[in-house]
Formats: sequence, C-alpha cells, structure tokens
Amino acid sequence: MRIMILGAMGQVGWQLVQQAPPQINVIPVARQGTAVTFDLADLEAIPSFLRAHCPDVLINAAAYTAVDQAEQEPEQAQRINGTAVKILAQTMAELGGVLVHYSTDYVFDGQQAVPYRETDATAPINAYGYSKWLGEQAIATVNANYLILRTSWVYDVRGKNFLRTMVRLAQTRPLVRVVADQVGTPTAASFIARLTYQLLLLQARGLYHLTPQGSTSWYGFARKIFDYLKAQGYATATLEAIPSRDYPTAAQRPAFSTLNCEKVTAVLGAPLPHWEQVLESILVQLNPASCLD
Ligand SMILES: NC(=O)c1ccc[n+]([C@@H]2O[C@H](COP(=O)([O-])OP(=O)(O)OC[C@H]3O[C@@H](n4cnc5c(N)ncnc54)[C@H](OP(=O)(O)O)[C@@H]3O)[C@@H](O)[C@H]2O)c1
Repeated sequence: MRIMILGAMGQVGWQLVQQAPPQINVIPVARQGTAVTFDLADLEAIPSFLRAHCPDVLINAAAYTAVDQAEQEPEQAQRINGTAVKILAQTMAELGGVLVHYSTDYVFDGQQAVPYRETDATAPINAYGYSKWLGEQAIATVNANYLILRTSWVYDVRGKNFLRTMVRLAQTRPLVRVVADQVGTPTAASFIARLTYQLLLLQARGLYHLTPQGSTSWYGFARKIFDYLKAQGYATATLEAIPSRDYPTAAQRPAFSTLNCEKVTAVLGAPLPHWEQVLESILVQLNPASCLD
C-alpha cells in the first residue's frame, strides 16, 4: 500500500505524515522541505507526476487557504482548489486509486440555524469558499472512488492558526478583541489525521462532515485558550467580545457554519469527542513561548 500525501508541510498534511501507520509506504509531498516536491500550480505536470509514483491512495491536504487574500486573487485560489483538484481526481481515476480530499464549512452561506448536513445546499459567500466548492464538484463529477471530508477552523501546535495567534497576543497585548458572532467548531489537525486513517480503514467513500462535537464562537474559542494560559500562571491580556462589523476583513465569513457529523459518527460507530476535550489535549502539548516567534 502506497499513500501519497500532498501538502505535507501544512497543518493537516504534517499530522497525516506523523500518524501514518508504520506498515504503509508514505510519500510526503510539499512545495519544499520534502524529498519529493511538487507545485500544484503546475497543472500540466500533475498527470505525469502521479503516474510516476502511482499511489494507491492520494491524500490531498494541499490547498490555497489564505481566505482574505483569495478575494484579491480568486483565479489563483480556483487554480489550486478547483482545476488542480479536478486533474488529481481524473488521474487517480485513471490509475484506479482512491482520492482523499478536504473541504470546508465555508461552502455554506451561514444563514441556517441548525448544523449543516452533507445534503444541505451549498452557497459560498467568499472566493476561497467558492474555489473549494469547485474542487468538491470536480471530484464528484470525475471520480467515484473518493472520500471528501469537510472540516472547519483547523488549528495545531505548529503552523499558522488561530490557536497560536491567540497564545501570542495573550502574552504580548493588553487587550485582545475577538468576534463573537461567527459560530463554528474548532478542529485540531491531529484529530482530522487520526479520523482520516480510521475512515480509510473502514473503506468509507463519499462526502462527510468531520469536526469534533459542539460549537462556539471565535471569542469562545479564544476564551478557552486564555483561561488555560491563566491557569498555567501566564499573564494574559483582557479578552473582549466584539461583533464582526468591528473587525472588517477582505472576505466575508459565514455567521454560522457548524457541521452536522451524524453521518461520519454512524460509520465510525462511536461518538466524536467534544471540541473542548480535543483543545485541552492540544494545549498540554503547546509551549506558549514557541508562539512568540
Ligand atoms: N485551515 C482551516 O481553518 C481549514 C478549515 C476548513 C477546511 N480546511 C481545509 O483543510 C485542508 C488542510 O488545510 P490546512 O489547515 O492544513 O492548510 P495549511 O496549513 O494552509 O496547509 C496547506 C498546504 O498546502 C500547500 N500548498 C498551497 N499551495 C500549494 C501549491 N500550489 N502546490 C503545492 N502545495 C501547496 C501549502 O504549502 P506552502 O507551505 O508551500 O504554502 C501548505 O503547506 C485544506 O483542504 C483546507 O482547505 C482548512
């Protein structure tokens, strides 16, 4: 069994490499920093690159993830998250392998009042969400042998993410203001990697929502992080809840994007952990000083 992991230096990709079962031959691929390198922007080279390595399973954890920047360069986001993904799906269909891909809660408009199911209508409200939606559509059209996991609010002890930003700001600012009117579910990259391998083992195929249980606002997420730091004896900033209109960003975000994970829970046959429980398990691994760099 040969598994190729694209985006091996990203949050989810890194955890996929760390957690790969020992009996599996893993090929980590990134733009740089890995033995095998590849840039998905080189669309014409994708088929020959995959044919040369012929993976049984291709896990695509690479993506254009700069949500605000995507508003300025939507074509680049669509190239990586849409067109490149379509070619990955076509080539994996030709090779007879499985394609595992990640998508986002930002394919929804956030107007619903109850958690989104896989069957609910998509209506992305920003360029990143639209580009990820294109990728989902392309896979479902060209390749039946796929597993798409929609997840949300990804963080880890490494990488560029909300957890590390909050830990840095808590230690360096007197006041930190965080939006309290966007609701979703924080999801650790290690949780996604662990569940990806479980689902592969169970031969799950199709589209699934995958986050821990429960939901909160960005403020609620920050509150947990600040409370933990305080309990550990760190001097922390004052945390203030603000509405989104007081924190303007280039990209509009959905107000509510909690995902209903009943479908994946049924396949796994066991309840998913609560997001707070997952966060606690990550916080104990984090060195707050490492977030100051
Ligand atoms: N982050 C979130 O909050 C979030 C939420 C929902 C869904 N997701 C989805 O989850 C998946 C994993 O996200 P993540 O948080 O792990 O993202 P990440 O940490 O930003 O990692 C993405 C990786 O993709 C690589 N990449 C970008 N453009 C590339 C290109 N042209 N060729 C090759 N590699 C390229 C990046 O490489 P460089 O290091 O070279 O830039 C980076 O290592 C993505 O599909 C994302 O859309 C993420």
